[in-house]
Amino acid sequence: MTLKIRDIELPSNVILAPMTGVTDLPFRTLVKRLGVGMVVSEMIASQSMIRQTRRSMQMCKGSPEEYPMAVQLAGCDPSVMAEAAKLNEDLGAQIIDINMGCPVKKIAEKSFAGSALMKDEIHAARIIEATVKAVKIPVTLKMRTGWDDTNRNAPRLAKIAEDLGIQMITVHGRTRMQMYTGKSDWAFIQSVKSQVRVPVIGNGDIVTEEDAKTLLDVAGVDGVMIGRGTYGRPWFPNQVQYFLKTGQKLKDPTLSEKYDIIKGHLNHMMEHLGEHTGMMMAKKHIGWYSKGLSDSASFRLSAMQSTQYSELTELLDSFFSKQIELSQQDLHTL
Ligand SMILES: Cc1cc2nc3c(=O)[nH]c(=O)nc-3n(C[C@H](O)[C@H](O)[C@H](O)COP(=O)(O)O)c2cc1C
Repeated sequence: MTLKIRDIELPSNVILAPMTGVTDLPFRTLVKRLGVGMVVSEMIASQSMIRQTRRSMQMCKGSPEEYPMAVQLAGCDPSVMAEAAKLNEDLGAQIIDINMGCPVKKIAEKSFAGSALMKDEIHAARIIEATVKAVKIPVTLKMRTGWDDTNRNAPRLAKIAEDLGIQMITVHGRTRMQMYTGKSDWAFIQSVKSQVRVPVIGNGDIVTEEDAKTLLDVAGVDGVMIGRGTYGRPWFPNQVQYFLKTGQKLKDPTLSEKYDIIKGHLNHMMEHLGEHTGMMMAKKHIGWYSKGLSDSASFRLSAMQSTQYSELTELLDSFFSKQIELSQQDLHTL
């Protein structure tokens, strides 16, 4: 199923979730190349954005091959959010997404941004209004179900947001107080969907193709957003969109296809982030990519201790050659 954000048509209704420290340019372009409807940047603090810090400029940078891409902004000052949105529009962003879901203390309690805005609908409305008015491109909103169990106001806030010109609403089916505990309440997301006419996207705990289908059915939403389910599986959103379209399952890539994907991903990280930061990021992804493979614990230990990219690629090379060899032996003994 395709999805439209105002005048922007997406090739499918499966979206890669914004994840700080994960969905940088190399990961987004990889997921996009393998197949997904849309990608979103990591959350960028609007204050840093308007100061154009090196990090925020790096985080908002997109590449044409991943378009349409949304740049996600967080903040509690309407004029700063407006300025940050306009800056991104001028830099070529296609969509601005406002973060009202971030639960971490630094954002929600110290800066009164992210999910904290759900506690003050009037202030949230000011931020939405200022951001929407500042740009011509569509503005979308991502939120949780509410602050806590007794204040699940996502349906009301969604209606306010739609009236102020928000073009799509994503709901992670947990409250702020839940952080990542419990389960995403897919049924509750239906109560947001029933309040608005703009597309609503359901999010939280999709790890299989069937999960995505169930969420669509239970919440009656227009699309799904997948975050942690892509760890070590950048091809998973494509498997989901294929399943939703055909009812059939796509196989995982073979080990040698996976190895090619991983090598390409790591090379892109080094190019984009430089060797120092690139190595930290690479180790995180290698941890996910190698999970479940034989002898992966000792491989991860050596990989984590490597200090240079050349060393890491050598380790990876011999680890994957071994895996491919083992899988061929398995085939011969069948
Ligand atoms: C490591 C990590 C970083 C995240 N960073 C962001 C972020 O920058 N902006 C945002 O809106 N949500 C962020 N989230 C929340 C996800 O977008 C998503 O709503 C949540 O993980 C639930 O979806 P999932 O179960 O598919 O992972 C983050 C989640 C994780 C695990």
